[in-house]
Formats: sequence, C-alpha cells, structure tokens
Amino acid sequence: MKKSILVTGGTGTLGRVVVRRLLDAGHDVRVLSRRPAPAQLPHGWTTGDLRTAVGIDAATSEVDVVVHCATTLGRKDVLVTRRLIDAARRNGDPHLVYPSIVGIDRVPFVYYRAKLEAERLVANSGLPWTVLRTTQFHDMVALMTSVQRRSPVIGTLSGVDFQPIDVRDVADRLAELAGGEPAGRVPDMGGPEIRRHRDLARAYLNSAGLRRFVLPIWLPGATFSGYRGGEHLAPDRAVGRITFDEFLAERER
Ligand SMILES: NC(=O)c1ccc[n+]([C@@H]2O[C@H](COP(=O)([O-])OP(=O)(O)OC[C@H]3O[C@@H](n4cnc5c(N)ncnc54)[C@H](OP(=O)(O)O)[C@@H]3O)[C@@H](O)[C@H]2O)c1
Repeated sequence: MKKSILVTGGTGTLGRVVVRRLLDAGHDVRVLSRRPAPAQLPHGWTTGDLRTAVGIDAATSEVDVVVHCATTLGRKDVLVTRRLIDAARRNGDPHLVYPSIVGIDRVPFVYYRAKLEAERLVANSGLPWTVLRTTQFHDMVALMTSVQRRSPVIGTLSGVDFQPIDVRDVADRLAELAGGEPAGRVPDMGGPEIRRHRDLARAYLNSAGLRRFVLPIWLPGATFSGYRGGEHLAPDRAVGRITFDEFLAERER
C-alpha cells in the first residue's frame, strides 16, 4: 500500500539510501533537513531543525510513517528525538521507525547511552513504533581509517572486531519495515563478516592504494573493554549481504 513517509536525516549516509528505496517502492516521500531544498527533487522536502523544532510540525503533518534517520552523533539525539515525537503526537500519530545500534545497552559509550535513551522515548511515545538495531556501517569503519590518511601511522583499536554492514542492506530492511505494520523491536541486523579492526584498516588502505604502518592501540576504560568483548556484534544475525571488500571495490570505481 502506498504511504506518505517522512525521512528525517534523509540527506545522511543511511537516510539518502532509505529515500531511494522508499521511492522505488512507490511511496510518497518527504525529507527533513536543515538545508534549503535543492532544485528538481523526485520527492518532497521540509527545511527544519530538530534541535529548535522549527519546521517540525510542517514536516510531520499528513504523514503515515516517519523514518527517523537524523542524528547529532551525540547526547542531543535524546532532545531531537523528543522534539520529533512531540510534533508527531500533535500531527496524527504516525508510525515511527527508528534505526539504532547493536550493543547500546552493553557498551557504555556516551553516544550509545543517548541512543538507548532515545530508543526508550520511542517505545514509550504512545506512537506506533518499530526499532531496528544494526552493527556499524561500512562507511563508518572506512572513515575511522580515512580520517588518518595523512598520517604515516594508522591507529586501530587493539583486540577489537567489527561486523560492518552496508547501508543498502539496512535501507532495504528499513523500507520494508516502513511499508509494514508497527513491529516494536525487531531482530538485530549484523554485517556478513566479523573482522579484526586492524585487517579492516589494511583492506581500506589497500583499496585506496596507500602504504601506511598500521598500529593497534590498546585503550583503557569500560567502553573499549566492551568493544574488545564483542558487545557491539551480532554473530547470530550476520544477515547483511554486501561485504566490506565489496563496498571498498565499488568505491574505487
Ligand atoms: N554510522 C553507523 O555506523 C551506524 C550504525 C548503526 C546505526 N546507525 C544509526 O543510523 C542513523 C543514521 O546514521 P548516519 O550515519 O546515516 O548519519 P549521518 O550520515 O551523520 O546523517 C545525519 C543526518 O541527520 C540530520 N540532522 C542532524 N542534525 C539535525 C537537526 N538538528 N535537525 C534535522 N536534521 C538533522 C542531517 O541532515 P542535514 O545536515 O541535511 O540537516 C543528516 O542527514 C543514526 O540514528 C545512527 O545512530 C548508524
């Protein structure tokens, strides 16, 4: 059934792909962004800011579903999620679909604490809701190396594995969830392979044609201990299809 769907963060790494998938499925799509609308879009657009709530009533009016991909990458995710929920409650109680992160209840990283609180807001919002937790995106794992590319030495997290997933796999699932009935917390989604961070960094460097020394660094604290313990992984839910190497090979083209 065709639905009217708002994608917050529809300009972001995940949100962009979610928008494409929803359009392909025949839905009416509106993007919320802080930026002005670009010319000639195949979908709707509302300029607004979830921190200040400017434009958020207009963004949430007359939609059946909100896919909430916007993130501040920090504590403010609680505030922006609250602002979104308040507006959605005033504007017809749409189904709220929220992408989240595997292990946010086990790794005490400050951003994960905010995500966990935001998840709780979603579950207690009174709105119909669906939450999908996934492992780290390929883009993020690649970024952890690419930001260091000017350095002769590339630091990685010693003893830490990642199970990166492609945003196309995540977007497929989110589009399916947005087109369906509210489902509460659905099974987690992990990438197809679990690999040591050092190996993922080397794979990135090889694909970028860079020769660098890779140095695993042991970091103290409960957050890194959680990562070393694999609390952010979903080994039983390795359902993503696109591998990190495939992701890198496509970026080269
Ligand atoms: N990255 C990962 O590895 C990973 C893994 C699992 C789950 N997730 C979750 O997936 C979601 C998407 O992550 P991502 O990596 O795609 O994010 P991203 O690329 O950093 O995109 C962030 C988006 O949020 C929007 N935004 C930021 N502040 C805003 C504000 N005040 N008002 C309105 N929009 C705002 C931005 O839009 P404008 O700049 O256009 O305003 C942008 O589109 C997040 O919830 C994240 O926690 C991420």
